[in-house]
Amino acid sequence: KTEITSNESLKPTHKPRASKSRRAEPLLMEISWEVCNQLGGIYTVLRSKTPSMVTRWSNRYCLIGPYNHDKAQVEFEPAPLVGPIGQTVKQLRDMGIGAHYGRWLVSGRPNVVLLESDKAYQYLDKIKYRLYADHGISTDNTAEPLVDQVLTFAEVVRIFLQTLAEKESHRRDLIAHCHEWMAGPVIPMLRHENWPGALVFTTHATILGRYLAMNDHQFYDHLSFFDDDEEAKHFNIQAQHQLERAAAHGSHVFTTVSDVTAEECTHLLGRTPDVLLPNGLNINRFAALHEFQNLHQDYKKRIHQFTMGHFFPSYTFDLDNTLYFYTSGRYEYRNKGMDLTIEALARLNHRLKEAGSPVNVIFFLITRAPIHSINVHTLQSRAMLEEFRTTADHIKEEIGDRLFEAAAQGHIPDFNTLTEDYFRLRLRRAIHAWKSEALPSVVTHDLIEDHSDDVLCQLRSCNLVNHQHDPVKFIYHPDFINATNPLFGIDYDQFVRGCHLGVFPSYYEPWGYTPLESIALGVPAITSDLSGFGSYLAQLLPDHDEKGIGVVSRRYHDFEYAANQLADMMFKYCQLSRRERISLRNTVESFSEHFDWHNLGRRYHEAHELALDRFHA
Ligand code: G6P
Ligand code: GLC
Repeated sequence: KTEITSNESLKPTHKPRASKSRRAEPLLMEISWEVCNQLGGIYTVLRSKTPSMVTRWSNRYCLIGPYNHDKAQVEFEPAPLVGPIGQTVKQLRDMGIGAHYGRWLVSGRPNVVLLESDKAYQYLDKIKYRLYADHGISTDNTAEPLVDQVLTFAEVVRIFLQTLAEKESHRRDLIAHCHEWMAGPVIPMLRHENWPGALVFTTHATILGRYLAMNDHQFYDHLSFFDDDEEAKHFNIQAQHQLERAAAHGSHVFTTVSDVTAEECTHLLGRTPDVLLPNGLNINRFAALHEFQNLHQDYKKRIHQFTMGHFFPSYTFDLDNTLYFYTSGRYEYRNKGMDLTIEALARLNHRLKEAGSPVNVIFFLITRAPIHSINVHTLQSRAMLEEFRTTADHIKEEIGDRLFEAAAQGHIPDFNTLTEDYFRLRLRRAIHAWKSEALPSVVTHDLIEDHSDDVLCQLRSCNLVNHQHDPVKFIYHPDFINATNPLFGIDYDQFVRGCHLGVFPSYYEPWGYTPLESIALGVPAITSDLSGFGSYLAQLLPDHDEKGIGVVSRRYHDFEYAANQLADMMFKYCQLSRRERISLRNTVESFSEHFDWHNLGRRYHEAHELALDRFHA
């Protein structure tokens, strides 16, 4: 098993390069499909890392991504075409290639180049031929149109970097750092042409690993025995896999985000990463602790509103003894550990009952699955709750006015006469219409595949369907949350703050940002040792339990064991007093500082140093 490289052993062991005092400082280009283009976790990596990169590299740092008109309108601000990068962009335009230079409008405001690749489509055959002739990579017959987009993007990036090198490489070092297979093809292309600079490749998962993990329940036991070519053929992802492999082998320095993924790389790509680059965040902490505690209280109230609207027509319970747990992420039922979570919740339900605990747990699953629309009943009870609010506000005003007048006239009125019959009737009607015989639904939307949906099937089979007598209730929200969402009316971050515990016991997770985001917002979380983040904690920060992050052992234990362990962890959380919960939130929030990029960004700097050394060797 590849060990996480500790800070110690990462210290460069090589001699410093001979002084090149007359040379200008190096330029670093980071290339990714997700620059100004949010799709998944890599966007978060690049974006949150920017302030720390700019601190080190200042103007000598530039991101390169694909141009997308709509997204650029929001995230990108053009700048004059000056300096070596601006000038190169100008040259590309002279060649007829659409190229944009400016700033990415995120914290740190880094330089960014966005390239249009539509022109390169006319050369697609040539590009494919060269990949085949020079590297033996066959990209014909691929089922995925993304492969062609990626190849044309790589081609324009190649032209950009060659043009830049012609101008700059005699006077300074250049580093090109590509992320994931989508930016990977540039590496074999440049290597073949002896590009005069250092090349770094980071993979954030192996494509083949993701497919295999989804389909093989004993993925980790079988990992060292797979024949990667055969398997890639089987899943029809040969082109992607070969491109990824070529990038891994062609780079001066090959890196990935965790030791979990490093092991995959060794076996599926045939090269062990040189450096591990754990993902951080740009952690913004409040000056005063009570500020984020107050936010928890405020947003919890918003979630209470949802709970009342959803459950109270059927039955009521004590909100003060209600805890909110959540999980979120791409809808990968097994990979994200949703199966394990539901099993553990069923066990937790049993234990809470046995213990006679007064606690209710409402568990939210936030993901995105194919839906028709929000469930009508869910919307109706939400609207009716508003009706209570409006009527109550009217009555309050009316009573207030009349009471005030009566008191000024010197008498205390009969309280029963203070409100008009109209509002009493309206209130009575609303209460009547509010009552429902049905159980509160476990899902907020109408799913397209209601009968075969994995989550719904498992909930039904373990009878976790929001019975009144079950302390554990389940809400499956198959859409992402944002402020325009009619059920919560708050952003995802705010929703997380209002919760008590995040649960992410993944089976396959190269890094896993969700638990890290949770703790950065002051909410304790559970992850697993099969996620890069969990594995990092288990090895480098063994006191993570006391700090408010549990790590479920899935690597060397079976489903049964892990489900029990997860149920234990959740049960333990349910037994904490309010005071203990508040204190745990303080602890976890301050612990999250460890994952600030100003700390973890150092690994990137070390990888870049190493790449320059190898380039010059
Ligand atoms: C925050 C608030 C406290 C509140 C507490 C509730 O800490 O500052 O005023 O009592 O949240 O915590 P709980 O874990 O019960 O949601
Ligand atoms: C990929 C991985 C995820 C990781 C992200 C950023 O999307 O699946 O675990 O957090 O990349 O590295």
